[in-house]
This record gives sequence, C-alpha cells and structure tokens, in this order.
Amino acid sequence: MEPLRTLLFVPGNRRNMIEKARHLPADVLVLDLEDSVPSLEKASARALVSDSLAGLAPERREEKAKQKGRKVFVRINSLASGLAQEDLESVVTPGIDGISQPKPSSARDVTEVEEIVARLESERGIAAGHVKLLPWVETAEGLLHAFEIASASPRVVGISFGAEDFTLDTGITRTEDGSELLYPRTMVVIAAKAANVIPIDTPYNNFRDEAGLINESTLARRLGFEGKCLIHPSQIEPVNSIFRPSPEEVDYARRVVAAFEAAVAQGFGSTSLDGKMIDIPIATRARRLLMIADSIAGR
Ligand code: COA
Ligand code: MG
Repeated sequence: MEPLRTLLFVPGNRRNMIEKARHLPADVLVLDLEDSVPSLEKASARALVSDSLAGLAPERREEKAKQKGRKVFVRINSLASGLAQEDLESVVTPGIDGISQPKPSSARDVTEVEEIVARLESERGIAAGHVKLLPWVETAEGLLHAFEIASASPRVVGISFGAEDFTLDTGITRTEDGSELLYPRTMVVIAAKAANVIPIDTPYNNFRDEAGLINESTLARRLGFEGKCLIHPSQIEPVNSIFRPSPEEVDYARRVVAAFEAAVAQGFGSTSLDGKMIDIPIATRARRLLMIADSIAGR
C-alpha cells in the first residue's frame, strides 16, 4: 500500500492553485468540486478540473522521480446534491487515481458511486478497478455506518473524517483542544482498521498556525490515523514528516525485530530489549513500521 499521508485539497475553480499544486510534494492532490466551489461555479470548475487532469501527471523525468507515486483524486459533489453523476462523467479518465466522495450515509451511497465509476471505466477503456474511492465520514449517520462504508467496495482505499460537516450535523461545538472530537475520530480509525483501509484525519483550518497543526497531527498519528487532509501548501512538509517514522523509531523497530527473531530461533516467543518485553504483537508492530518507512522512502 502506498502512503496517503498528505491529501492537499485544491479548489477546482482556482486555475492558479491547480497550476501551483503540480509541483507540490503532497502524497495526493484532491481537486475539489464540492464545498470549496460556490454553486454558480460548479459547471466551470468541472470543466477546468477535467481539462487539468492530464497536465497533472508529472512530465519531466526528474519531476517524475521526485513525484513518484503522487496521486490525483477528485472530490465530487454528494449524491444528494444531484451533481455527482455529471461530476463523475467529466472526471473519470485515466488521469485520475480516485474519487473522494463527500457525505455518504451508508454503504449503498458508496456502491451507487462505484456502479457509475465501473460503467465509465468500461466505456472508456480504463482498467477495471483502477479508480479508487475515498469516502468521507462526516455526518452522524455516516459515523454510525463507518465500517460498512469503509468495506462497501474493494475500491475503497481509505476513509476521511470531516470535522466541519460532522459538527454541523451533530451540533457539537468545536474547541481549541478538540476533546469533543476524540470519540468520532477514534471511531473512524477503528472502522477503517476493521475494514483494512487507511484512516485519514480532518483538515486543520487555522493554516497560519503551524504549532497547532503539529499538535493536532501528532495526536492524529497517536490515535492511529495514517494521514491528514490539508488545505494549504504550507501544511505539506510538517504533516509529511509527522506521518513518516523518525530515524529513531526505525532504528528501534529494527532492533525489536532482530531481538524477536533471535528469541524465536531459540524457541522463545518473548524476550526483552532495553528492559521492555518483546512478543508477537510488538514485533509485528515494529515490522509494520518498517514497511511504512520503506514505502515512504520509495516516494
Ligand atoms: N492548493 C494549491 N495552492 C494553494 C492552496 C491550495 N489549497 N492554498 C493556497 N495556495 C497557493 C496560493 O494560491 C498562493 O499562491 P501564490 O503564492 O502563487 O499566489 C500560495 O499558495 C500562498 O497562499 P496564501 O496567500 O497563503 O493563501 P490564500 O489566502 O491564497 O488562500 C485559502 C487561503 C484558505 C483560501 C486557500 O488555502 C484554500 O482555498 N484552501 C483550500 C480550501 C479547500 O479546499 N477547502 C475544502 C477542504 S476539505
Ligand atoms: Mg465536508
């Protein structure tokens, strides 16, 4: 699985921002047709995004090497808006890696999008299953169905928690410390893990506050999130590095695996390292961290 640490949202009606985004080191660019685009601009944004997709593929060789693995997604409008079908018709092309789907209430909403995507893939000669799905969990009903949403289709690669819409829908008041969101954020992580997809945290809106971004992202990683939605280019580097295992973590994980393998070779299922017990789940977690570090190093 390739890393989905940083997903930069780019308003689909802002040509200069789309152009700028081409050169940014986010793991995923998400061209937005939904809430960053006003109603009157929906049609022109759809046309602009559709025209921009081919150009977002890295061109020059060094650019390609630098941006290996960078993905391009489009956030369509919700099914309830009545715009989703037309959005999909415009953007499902070989140039995209996936669709970000806002506000699904249930698995059925996800399979409805999947059916349209599958038909367009087959009509347009795109490999079946190429276009992945990244549904948001951002309503009360969506949270209650988060596991079903995450496991609705093999195309689902992750689920994103959307705090703004979620608090709007539930009447929860947001505070600086975010304690009111611990429960839904944790639920999203658990649902994603149960469905074997990647949990992605909500955007941090206060984009001039780097310390706040770092705090929120550090907590997100501790909660089990593997990536975060972003709204501004300045958020890419700090969040990429929070979700990248540090050299110390990699070094410790290597020592854990070595100690555990030595123990197993001697017929033991547990051993100790630096005064701490090492057994199967701990060794497995260390191996997983090394895999994540490897996949990030390959970017
Ligand atoms: N993607 C690409 N480029 C972006 C960007 C984004 N999300 N946000 C800002 N930029 C660009 C600006 O165009 C500007 O480019 P320039 O230096 O070539 O002029 C540069 O980054 C610096 O931007 P800055 O002046 O600091 O911010 P701004 O006032 O232009 O924009 C926002 C601030 C919040 C309006 C803008 O970041 C934004 O629209 N973000 C995305 C909103 C969104 O997608 N919401 C839905 C999220 S789920
Ligand atoms: Mg939203």
